[in-house]
Amino acid sequence: MKIRPRINRWTAARRKLINSSSIAHSLVQPHFVVDGEGVDVEINSMPGISLQSVDVLVQTIADDMAMGISNHMLFPIVDPSLKDSAATVASHTHMPLHNAVRELKSKFGGDIVIMTDVCLCTATDHGHCGIVHNQALDNDLTLPVLSQIALSHAEAGADYIAASDMMDGRIGAIRDSFEQAGHTDTGILSYSVKYASSFYGPFRDAASSSPSFGDRATHQMDVTSGYSEAIFEATNDVAEGADIIMVKPALAYMDVVREVANAIHRPVAVYNVSGEYSMVMTSAEDESSRKNMVTEIFHGFKRAGADIIVSYHTREAVRLQWFQ
Ligand code: PBG
Repeated sequence: MKIRPRINRWTAARRKLINSSSIAHSLVQPHFVVDGEGVDVEINSMPGISLQSVDVLVQTIADDMAMGISNHMLFPIVDPSLKDSAATVASHTHMPLHNAVRELKSKFGGDIVIMTDVCLCTATDHGHCGIVHNQALDNDLTLPVLSQIALSHAEAGADYIAASDMMDGRIGAIRDSFEQAGHTDTGILSYSVKYASSFYGPFRDAASSSPSFGDRATHQMDVTSGYSEAIFEATNDVAEGADIIMVKPALAYMDVVREVANAIHRPVAVYNVSGEYSMVMTSAEDESSRKNMVTEIFHGFKRAGADIIVSYHTREAVRLQWFQ
């Protein structure tokens, strides 16, 4: 196991994301990448957020970069005809996500921070986050598949892979595979404290990643669990080599963010998830009430101890200069 503190200092854009006290610099914009050309389809329950093919996505991110949004999180959306029980295509190097990462990195180099979601759920035909064996998620059969997917993202040039699956031991497994392949500058953002939340609905609709049977209760954390489990998960992932620790969702867990931030010595991220975004968008239809709500929410995240904020509100907030 290797701990590599230099990863968070590797590029100017990473240093700005991790260390700046400005809210604007802490924001990360999520994107959904699909196959095809000229595709730009807004997600019903998430106004302003679209499924985009690589050509449209690269243009969108170029516009974002010009506005000052340097941090981007990419989710692969896989055509249902390509899904299977082992998420085989998720690690294919010419999937839209991989093509997008390569193109963006050759365009923006060290000025952009690209995070890529690593999980099986968007590429399995059953919608589960891992390999299913005897109707149950098999932790240890899933680890090599996750490592394979993570490696393929690292090879494409991702700054951080974002492990969102919640299998035991995956951070160590991914770090080991990065070491073996010589990817000593690729970071790992761990969704360490990820709850089995009811706030992921719009995302799962967009990604068609709802489980076809059962739920995510055996791997994602119980929404009624306490601080000790959150701190236990976070400290384990730090010990396994995670470079950034995430708490998700954000709004109902601000107290957990504070506890985790107090307990660990690594940057803390919050994910202001799809259901939270939809709530704001449906209750604040005009710009100024959105500005007021998002201002309150983001300052709350900062107060709670978040260094990094992943939010679908990023583009509007930066475009309209709601934060410095
Ligand atoms: C994949 C993943 C999910 C989200 C991020 N990564 C869905 C899930 O766990 O079911 C949710 C993001 C959001 O709701 O905005 N495992």
